[in-house]
Amino acid sequence: MTFSYDRQIKAVDDISFTVEKGEVFGFLGPSGAGKSTTIKLLTRLIVPQANSVFILGRDMAKVDYKFMRKIGISFENDVLYPTLTGYENLYFHAKLYGINKQEIEDVMKTLDIFDARDKPAAQYSKGMKTRLVLARALVTRPEILFLDEPTGGMDPDIAAYVRKVLKDLNNQGTTMFVTTHDMHEAEQLCDRIAFFNSGKIVDIDTPESYKKRYGESRISFTVGDKIIAVDRKNKEELLRLIDQDQWNSIHSQEATLEDIFIKVVGRGLKDGE
Ligand SMILES: Nc1ncnc2c1ncn2[C@@H]1O[C@H](COP(=O)(O)OP(=O)(O)OP(=O)(O)O)[C@@H](O)[C@H]1O
Ligand SMILES: [Mg+2]
Repeated sequence: MTFSYDRQIKAVDDISFTVEKGEVFGFLGPSGAGKSTTIKLLTRLIVPQANSVFILGRDMAKVDYKFMRKIGISFENDVLYPTLTGYENLYFHAKLYGINKQEIEDVMKTLDIFDARDKPAAQYSKGMKTRLVLARALVTRPEILFLDEPTGGMDPDIAAYVRKVLKDLNNQGTTMFVTTHDMHEAEQLCDRIAFFNSGKIVDIDTPESYKKRYGESRISFTVGDKIIAVDRKNKEELLRLIDQDQWNSIHSQEATLEDIFIKVVGRGLKDGE
């Protein structure tokens, strides 16, 4: 799959991957990597300039709106109707698929926006808007969810709650494609993670396996105001430092997914790294 906005730079550059049924598959990459563009391509908001997308065995170039009920899309910076209430925003989407009032209210309760149901969407905070968009994606009980930065703009405790809701849905069988630049989110949610940068998939693996392949675990010694980190395999040096008996504390350090991302991709997940 390839896409260029200006026919010069490829925002998504010849990527190809398969997501298994029941899996949570993540795209982890920095701002501007092409994550949102990838979701737009997968859900056919824009049309790939090369190759094609198959979802649940169907060619996305040929599906009709009824099929779209099986797909939930929660898009970063999604368009809500600002003057309609939260409830009405969901109602206009759900009506197309014959979803009833009770089901809409249940989803709002699940995402903890029920109390704000009669407020215009324009008055929602950023994190509430993200949850409203997510509610719209969930209301048709889709088999596959496409989530673009699903906890964007949320306070950490609400983000953790939303991740739990998503985990529960996955445990009930919902397949998910998630983009994020948050390594903790990727690690908590995803069975497999694609490292994604400049429109390309650099690697695909499980979080555990990334750590096995690239993560060096280290032991760090605090000696006075200095921290000395030693590779766990370097027994000689470890024993020497322990013997010296000048340390205040000893910790083991696991490589984080971000450390590994930098190693594999050559840049960090945040701007300017
Ligand atoms: N509508 C557009 N017109 C032209 N260029 C675009 C458009 N949308 C995105 N781009 C460019 O395509 C590239 C990928 O953008 P995209 O929004 O897919 O990245 P992203 O990984 O989702 O970033 P972020 O983490 O900031 O959301 C960027 O270089 C961006 O400037
Ligand atoms: Mg984006």
